[in-house]
Amino acid sequence: MTPYVVCKRIVKVYRVGDHELVALRGIEFEMEKGEMVAIIGPSGAGKSSLLNLLGGLDTPTAGQLIVGDRNVLELRGRKLADYRLRQVGFVWQQVERNLLAHRSAFRNVTLPMVLAGVSLRERRTRTKELLEAVGLKDQWHKRPAALSGGQQQRVAIAVALANQPGLLLADEPTGALDRETAKQVMLLLNDLRARLGLTILMVTHDMDMAGYADRVLTLRDGALGQVDEERPSLDDHGRMVLPETIKTRLAEMPAIAVEIRPEGVLLRAEADDSDPSHALHDSLTEDAPPPPHRWRFLRRRTKVAS
Ligand SMILES: Nc1ncnc2c1ncn2[C@@H]1O[C@H](COP(=O)(O)OP(=O)(O)O)[C@@H](O)[C@H]1O
Ligand SMILES: [Mg+2]
Repeated sequence: MTPYVVCKRIVKVYRVGDHELVALRGIEFEMEKGEMVAIIGPSGAGKSSLLNLLGGLDTPTAGQLIVGDRNVLELRGRKLADYRLRQVGFVWQQVERNLLAHRSAFRNVTLPMVLAGVSLRERRTRTKELLEAVGLKDQWHKRPAALSGGQQQRVAIAVALANQPGLLLADEPTGALDRETAKQVMLLLNDLRARLGLTILMVTHDMDMAGYADRVLTLRDGALGQVDEERPSLDDHGRMVLPETIKTRLAEMPAIAVEIRPEGVLLRAEADDSDPSHALHDSLTEDAPPPPHRWRFLRRRTKVAS
């Protein structure tokens, strides 16, 4: 099966004054039609930069980008405008960026269709269907200010889907919502994906939200990696997140020692100094160069990960 999205060696360099900032360094991934992929990464990792490129809102410094049957980087003028209007839908984190404040939910959803030249009759039908699909059939007449944050994001999803795009790009769509509302928005996205055969690329810094996707990629400092549940990863605050299997084992230990060794960082059960197994360990590792630092945590349990 040919992939629906192909992103090949995408590089994005921003010129800021007289220096260059490399935001994306050779991003490479593919998505199948109907797949939902989450990209997780800390602030400044390049997530929004990547979505902007896929949405045709910016051009990369190098690389190749294919969405459906279109080579996005070859699109110019009307074709590019058409791509933005019909082939991709965007949901932004900032709720106010998604909707026009002076228009009702209904008129927000119809706007992209007006721009795409959809007939009045078709616009009405589609808007009703979309507002119903996002669970806001009865709120159609309300302006954004009269809706809750979660309802506004639902309208935003309906707006993004107005011209029946194949690809939905969502930049931290639940970032401004409380957890329960966020969860419901994720369930809605999953439901729409199944019903409409949508392909969804979502960017987030929240592992729980990423969990709704079929696949999670990590973006760090402009480079992609796959999330491997068996390996430690770093979270948004630079804290190491240990795999469950390791956490469980560490939790069974009365105390944990952390050593920085020339070859890396070692977490191990802290033995009592009077414990002969400790002496044995020291004698076995005598030849190794002494560790530059050694910390001990003798409290009952050491918090090593959040
Ligand atoms: N228009 C721009 N001009 C210059 N630098 C930018 C621009 N947009 C983003 N950057 C920089 O590129 C890096 C990635 O930013 P961004 O894609 O917004 O990351 P994220 O969405 O993961 O927080 C950051 O260092 C950011 O400051
Ligand atoms: Mg961003």
